[in-house]
Formats: sequence, C-alpha cells, structure tokens
Amino acid sequence: VTSFALGLPAEELFPRRAYGLALRNVLSTDPQALQYGPSSASLRENVVELMRRRGVQCDRDEVFLTSGAQQGLSLLARLLLSPGASILTEHHVYPGFQQAVQPFEPRYHTVPTDRAAGIDVDAVEHVLRRFRPAFIYVNPEGHNPLSVSMSMEARSRLAAMASEYGVPIVEDDVYGFLRYEGPDQPPMSALSRGHVFYVGSFSKTLAPALRVGWLIVPRELVPILSVLKESTDLDTGTLTQRALAAYLDRNDFAGHITRVCRAYRVRRDAMAAALRRHFGPRARWRSPTHGVFIWLDLEGDVDGRLLLERALDSARIAFVPSEAFAVPGGPQQRNGLRLNFSHCTPAAIRDGIARLAQVLDEV
Ligand SMILES: Cc1ncc(COP(=O)(O)O)c(C=O)c1O
Repeated sequence: VTSFALGLPAEELFPRRAYGLALRNVLSTDPQALQYGPSSASLRENVVELMRRRGVQCDRDEVFLTSGAQQGLSLLARLLLSPGASILTEHHVYPGFQQAVQPFEPRYHTVPTDRAAGIDVDAVEHVLRRFRPAFIYVNPEGHNPLSVSMSMEARSRLAAMASEYGVPIVEDDVYGFLRYEGPDQPPMSALSRGHVFYVGSFSKTLAPALRVGWLIVPRELVPILSVLKESTDLDTGTLTQRALAAYLDRNDFAGHITRVCRAYRVRRDAMAAALRRHFGPRARWRSPTHGVFIWLDLEGDVDGRLLLERALDSARIAFVPSEAFAVPGGPQQRNGLRLNFSHCTPAAIRDGIARLAQVLDEV
C-alpha cells in the first residue's frame, strides 16, 4: 500500500550496525555523553561539510542544531512572527509548517505553484509590492506535497526579491539530498545568505527517529535561537548528537545517500510505471526529480477525502488528500492526492496503485 509515512527511510537502509558501533563508542569513551551539554561542535562541522556539498558555504558558528527540522520551523516562527503577522506561502503547504506557525494565528498570503517550476515567482512579487509579510516559506526541492523542485531561474529571482524587499525566506530543504536525476542545483541559501534561513534534517537521509535537524542562520541570531530553544527542550539530545557525529566521522555518508537515492529511485519508477499503466488520462502527474512523493491532480470532480475513505475501507490504501494542505483562508483543492513512494517495496507499490485505480473506478 502507499503510505501516510512522510518518507521514512526503508528499514534496510538505516545503517543500524554502523550507528550502533558509533553509539557504543561514544558511551564508553565520552564522559559527557549522558550530561546536558552545548551543541556538538563536531556534528556542526559535519553539517558544514554537508552544506558545502549542497553548494552553501557556511561555518560552524552559523549552524544551529535542532530537534528535527520541525523544531527549526517552530523556532523560526517564534523568531520572526508576532501575533497576527502575515506570511507568504504557496496554496499547498506542509501541514507541520502550519502547526508550527499556528500559535501566532498568522494571516496567509498564498500564491500558486507551477507543477514544473515551483512557486509562482511573479505572484510572489505581486504580493510583495502590496504587503510586507514577515517571511516567505518555500520547499525548493521535492516540495511537500507537490513534489516539484524549483527551477534555477525561480530560485535566483526569489532570492533577489528577498533582499530587494527585505523579506526573509525560510527555505525548508529537508528533501534536498534525495536527488534522483537532473542537475544538482544549489538552494537559495547559496545565493543570498543574509536573507535566507536554511532548514535541514537527517530525518530523510538517515532516520527520523534521531530527531536531529539544523538551521543555517546569520551567526548573530544563534544566541537568540538558543534562548528560544532552551524554553522548549533545553537541548537536542546530547547522546544522539555525539553518536551521530561519530557515525558521520567514521562512515561514508555520501555513499550512504547514494544508496538511499538508488533504492528510492527504483520505488519512484515503480510508482510512475504503475500510474502510467493503471491511471492513464484520469490523472495529471509528473515523475519528481527529488523527494518522496508523487502528486496526482485527478481529472473531474473527484473528492479526495471520499476517495481516501473508500481506499482505506475497501483496499487498505492510504494517501493524503489535497485538502490537508490548504491553509486557513486560502484556496481549497479537492481532487489532489499525495502518494508516498519511499516507504513501500516496488511490489507493494505496483499492487497498491492497481488497487487504488480500481477504487477510483468505483467512486
Ligand atoms: C517539508 C518538511 N519539513 C519539515 C519536516 C520535519 O522533518 P523532521 O523530521 O526533521 O522534523 C518534514 C517531515 O516530513 C517535511 O516534510
């Protein structure tokens, strides 16, 4: 079946043994591993190296470790928003982001997303000419839920606009390392560091259970973020940080990402082939270059929520219908579906898509 899972790496892809060895080593050699402690300088160095591979030059004082990207989003919301402030997003937005900003009850200005090139940058400029939102939220690669990656032109124009209008961008790049084809395009943080706050995570490449993510921000913001973070969890788990740093120091993480991408590419292609075979002209969709989702725009007036109920009941298939991604006051789409391809085996994906097509026949 296709799954609700937000791209959990498949069981066999998590390098349990290597991580276990690193964990054991830290426990037996590092007397501070079980204490409260400052964020791991060695893990921040590792993040600097990862970011360099992504085309972003930063140093470890600009890396702020978080308990997952989700905490990064919450902290940025607390840093940048006051109650009732306005923010600029696309019509379809990752629900976890909406939860992160919800305490501030923000006003959303939303713009459409081109299914091939990403956020509609002309529409962004139109909003910025009239309003001054607190920030712009984007997923440059493997957008959740639409799975589109922004064109280089869109990135350059948006990064330039952020500095021209003095409006920061929150660049949520959790899927940026999961690339299956196409050029390795740098995130916007590589183009305009001062105005773009980068959000990264080990959840999609290693394991969400680690709960380790990071922000790349101007260094003067780090002490402010530290105070905000302290009030929520004091610290990202010291033990996990140190074990992760030891794992990254001793293992070929680039090779690991290549293996993960290879496995996910097979799953993506299995889903694409099954969609071609069973859906034909009943849905519009694109095979994504990044991420873990395929987005379907169904033809006609199909209600995604109703389809989900039927699919769960009669075929044990789960997906997320488009209405889950609509923001308060923004436009609602009813006939869109987000399918996840990273979680299931290719055989389960083929079977699941065939069964989903059958359910669609019956609604
Ligand atoms: C776009 C996006 N941002 C952030 C997150 C949260 O990631 P983490 O597990 O690092 O908190 C997710 C998780 O699915 C996501 O899809």
